[in-house]
Amino acid sequence: MSDITVRVRNVSKRFGDFYAVRNVNFEVQRGECFGLLGPNGAGKSTTIKMMTTLLPIDEGDIEIAGYHYAKNPTRIRESIGYVPQMLSVDGTLTGYENLLLFAKLFGLQKKERERRIEEILQLIDLEEAADQPVKSYSGGMIRRLEIGQAILHRPQVLFLDEPTVGLDPVARRGVWEHIEKLQHEHNMTIILTTHYMDEAESLCSRIAMMNKGQIAALGTIEELREQMGKPDATMDDIFAYFAGHFDNQEGGMKNVARSRRTAKRLG
Ligand SMILES: Nc1ncnc2c1ncn2[C@@H]1O[C@H](COP(=O)(O)OP(=O)(O)OP(=O)(O)O)[C@@H](O)[C@H]1O
Ligand SMILES: [Mg+2]
Repeated sequence: MSDITVRVRNVSKRFGDFYAVRNVNFEVQRGECFGLLGPNGAGKSTTIKMMTTLLPIDEGDIEIAGYHYAKNPTRIRESIGYVPQMLSVDGTLTGYENLLLFAKLFGLQKKERERRIEEILQLIDLEEAADQPVKSYSGGMIRRLEIGQAILHRPQVLFLDEPTVGLDPVARRGVWEHIEKLQHEHNMTIILTTHYMDEAESLCSRIAMMNKGQIAALGTIEELREQMGKPDATMDDIFAYFAGHFDNQEGGMKNVARSRRTAKRLG
C-alpha cells in the first residue's frame, strides 16, 4: 500500500475571474506534518477548504486516504478532522458538552461516545476543566478543545488552519506538544497553515510556500535553503524570499532567475 495519504493534483479555485488557488500540486506522506505557508491571501485556507470538501474544486483532483474528491467526498469527510481558522466551540457549553455535541454529530453510539470523550479529554489535558464553561478557558485550552473535537472520530488526516494564532508563547508550546503527540503516538497525518516561522520549523517536515494562489517552493527547510542558494538562511529569510516570487509575475521570476545565477557564480 502506498504511504501517500494526500494527493493534490493541478488543483485550482476561482472566485469569478480571480484565481485564489492556481494549479497547485503536492503529496503528503502518512504520519507527516506538512506546512502551508505564505502571505495573507496566498490561498492557504482556500486550499484547506477544498481538501476538507467545504469548497468545490474548479480544476484538478484531490485524493485523501485513497478516496477521490469527485467520487467519494463523504468518505473523505469521514477520514479527516478540521480545525478552522475561526472559533469552532460554543463558549456557553462546558468542554465536555462541546465534545459530546461533536460525538453525536459524528454518529458515535452512547457507550463509545463516553469512552472516546474520556480518552480525548486525557489526550488534550482538559480532564480537570471538562465541566467548566468554555468561556472561562484560556486561548490555549480552547485550541486544545477544538483539536479534541476534530479528532473524536479518529481521523487519518488532521487539518489545522493557524492553530496557535493569538496564543501566548507558553500556550503555543502546549499546542505544539499535542500536535506532536498526535503525529508520533497516533501516526496522524497533519496539514497546517501558520504565519509563525518557528512553528513551521519546529513541527513541519516539509513546507509548501504559497504565494498568489501558487506554490512558489516546496521541500524540507534544507531544500528550500538550497533552492535559495543560501545555506544559512533563516525561516524568515526563506519566507521573505519565496513570498516575493510572483510579485510582478514576469519581473519576479526573472529576478529570481537572476539572483540564482548570481548565487551560483558566487559559489
Ligand atoms: N469566498 C470567497 N470569495 C471571493 N474571494 C475569496 C473567497 N475566499 C477567499 N477569497 C480570496 O482568495 C484569496 C485567498 O484567500 P485565503 O483565505 O485562501 O488566503 P490565506 O492564504 O488563507 O490568507 P491568510 O493568511 O490571511 O489567512 C484572497 O485574495 C481572498 O480574498
Ligand atoms: Mg487563511
